Amino acid sequence: MTERPSVLVTRRPPGDAVAAIEREATVWLWEEDRPIPARAFFAEVADADGLYCMLTDTVDGALLEAAPRLRVVSTMAVGVDNIDLAACTARGIPVGNTPDVLTDTTADTAFGLVMTAARRLGEGRDYVRAGNWARWEPELLLGHDVHSSTLGIIGLGRVGRAIARRGFGFGMQVLYFGRRRQPSAEAELGVIYREFDDLLSESDHVVVATPLTPETVHLIDGRALSRMKPSATLVNISRGGTVDSAALVEALRSGQIAAAGLDVTDPEPISADHPLVSLPNCFVIPHLGSSSRRTRRAMADLAAVNLLAGLKGERLAACANPEVYE
Ligand code: GLV
Ligand code: GLV
Repeated sequence: MTERPSVLVTRRPPGDAVAAIEREATVWLWEEDRPIPARAFFAEVADADGLYCMLTDTVDGALLEAAPRLRVVSTMAVGVDNIDLAACTARGIPVGNTPDVLTDTTADTAFGLVMTAARRLGEGRDYVRAGNWARWEPELLLGHDVHSSTLGIIGLGRVGRAIARRGFGFGMQVLYFGRRRQPSAEAELGVIYREFDDLLSESDHVVVATPLTPETVHLIDGRALSRMKPSATLVNISRGGTVDSAALVEALRSGQIAAAGLDVTDPEPISADHPLVSLPNCFVIPHLGSSSRRTRRAMADLAAVNLLAGLKGERLAACANPEVYE
């Protein structure tokens, strides 16, 4: 009889994912309502054949060294910037993630942030809550149009393309910048490639949808912000680290740009007294990109499927380091 594999689950996922894993493995689950602390993470991973983790967990070389039996890492997220992919590949460990199932939900969130920031919906809510709504005003909280404007997407991956499709529904011209040109997306969707600086200066709304990598850290810095229109909005749906927070505070304060909508921040979580939270023209939500009930369950289920495949030595349905199979 073969031994039942051991799996460390670092946070209870929604739905039936843990039950599905328990049918084939012995699960050790961190039950608290906060990310697993490093001490417990290192201790519990020592006996684990499989790791089911969250985007809040750091899976680096040191963690892998503490996990001699580990055969698969499965994260309940599409982004894998918290995981040292090269170190996993070197150990022959496939890393599962959850693309596709969250694409449209995340694009909805991005679009919501564009609308909220550009049309000052958050300020409108604050105004009502503060008891200021005494009468209708012809020039109250005037913002900038979303429809018929120019949308600039940085990072035309699956989420970026889904944002582009929404833009066309709003009658927008859609520009993109990415590591490489995508002639097929240009032909199929009608998106137009622009060099980085040109995208910034031509767009009315700039959405960052690129993964966080060493090349994209502080991609949006003071210099990039200075290229944008004073009427422009910036939306970040990627990872907080792609935007230089101090430079963004400065740009929002000085009127260098009009507004920002952030699903992700640096630092994350961000404290209530951080200027990005208190500035009226910055609308911050707590990393809710994929947070519909249906999508979070689909992510949890796909992460379980990936994990179980990895334990059996089968190819993962969604693998972030396919080079591990070469
Ligand atoms: C969320 O940010 C994810 O990477 O899934
Ligand atoms: C994720 O962000 C993707 O574009 O697939």
